[in-house]
Amino acid sequence: MKSYTVAELLHSETLLQEVTVKGWVRTFRANRFIALNDGSTIKNIQCVVDFENTNEDILKRIGTGAAVAIKGELIESQGKGQKVEVQVKDITILGDADPEEVSKTILQQKRHTLEKLREQAHLRTRTNTFSAVMRLRSSLSFAIHKYFNDNGFYYMHAPIITGSDAEGAGEMFRVTTLDPKNPPLNEEGNVDYTQDFFGKETNLTVSGQLEAETYAMSLGKVYTFGPTFRAENSNTSRHLAEFWMIEPEVAFMDLDGNMDLAEDFMKSVLSYVLEHNADDLAFLENRLIQEDKTKPQAERSEMTLTEKLRFVIDNNFKRVSYTEAIDILRNSKPNKKKKFKYIINEWGADLQSEHERFLVEKHFKCPVILFDYPANIKAFYMRLNEDEKTVRAMDILFPGIGEIVGGSQREERLDVLKEKMAALDIPEEELWWYLELRKYGTAVHSGFGLGFERLVMFATGMSNIRDVIPYPRTPQNAEF
Ligand code: 4AD
Ligand code: MG
Repeated sequence: MKSYTVAELLHSETLLQEVTVKGWVRTFRANRFIALNDGSTIKNIQCVVDFENTNEDILKRIGTGAAVAIKGELIESQGKGQKVEVQVKDITILGDADPEEVSKTILQQKRHTLEKLREQAHLRTRTNTFSAVMRLRSSLSFAIHKYFNDNGFYYMHAPIITGSDAEGAGEMFRVTTLDPKNPPLNEEGNVDYTQDFFGKETNLTVSGQLEAETYAMSLGKVYTFGPTFRAENSNTSRHLAEFWMIEPEVAFMDLDGNMDLAEDFMKSVLSYVLEHNADDLAFLENRLIQEDKTKPQAERSEMTLTEKLRFVIDNNFKRVSYTEAIDILRNSKPNKKKKFKYIINEWGADLQSEHERFLVEKHFKCPVILFDYPANIKAFYMRLNEDEKTVRAMDILFPGIGEIVGGSQREERLDVLKEKMAALDIPEEELWWYLELRKYGTAVHSGFGLGFERLVMFATGMSNIRDVIPYPRTPQNAEF
């Protein structure tokens, strides 16, 4: 008897006489109707048990959460709500789930808060919401690889353990095998890292960019897609200590090309999920509509989830210089009425998420690319403009998310880069290899980093980043 997934059965063009399907019982109603789910789709298949001819002991063990194997016939449904169903001929309990125990978990079929689901993250993908989110996450990953592969990029694996701080922000997790209680000390009384595993100080990477640049300067068009780590103590709904980042890097491309690439890329991957994840998106869209009903009118969203995705795909991202943005913010109502937590007084101010969201959600009402930021609020590697005050940086801001992409044209001039590093106390020895790129055939090049979880948040409408990654790592939390 051939095995089928629930998705295959639901999409089957024909009725099937002999099928096997395995999954977990969501509900068992009236000693007769099993709603079976196996993760292949958000939908359950109804399996109808002939209870008069089924062993009493087996019937008792068909409960929410149990794993079962069902043999039967795929027939046209006798009831409403589904086109087909499985007429059960034989059922085997593969794994029991004690109802008493189940009732203490989120497997119990009732509404649970997202916080509660987070505490049982090992079970939460058995719920509709989380299975939909994680299938979308998987689909988006595939769409990303597909986009780059279709466009002539090579996938590059940047190291996870590094000896440098790519962002120069000092937010790194140290990697060491030294005994924390009794580390070897050098003559000055400091920890002697020459005796550590790598013979030097090392940390988990905050970004694969610098290594990706070396590959762009030989392979031309490359991208990374891997985990990155930041020991920043930000307990917000948009920050993780471990997150996945996509970083394309392209030789001979300037900032305008970088913006074009980023925009085309974002539109392409969102189109992909609109086309391929309709069932999951419909479920999440409805979830948001229900959630919205519990909010005051002013906080309700004007667009549905799919409308939001369509909107990003169909409209040009608005490109605005930092200087223009500061003017807009300075003259904005919330600034004048002191509604912003951080009032914008002058050029040079770093933009906070409240400002970014004002620009995107209230002022432009579309995705915005801000570019040419003041040099002193951006990383050391960004290319200095002729005005010597601003750098060729860009941030992409999305509605409901704020910053989703950060990127730049890179400083390709050896002397300018060296000056910049000296000014910021970044030792040349640490990045000697990065500097050498500027010695041997240097060239204009650019790239950006997309925070994958922020993209998943946007595509699913989830409002907390902890709910779009399987096991979130945040300050004071590394359960599972
Ligand atoms: O703006 P960031 O720090 O830029 C870089 O790391 C560059 N090296 C990228 C490049 O040019 N290749 O980070 C890029 C993106 C942010 O826009 C944001 O979406 C995401 O990474 N991000 C985070 N996502 C979740 N949790 C955090 N703590 C994040 N920090 C950054
Ligand atoms: Mg940034």
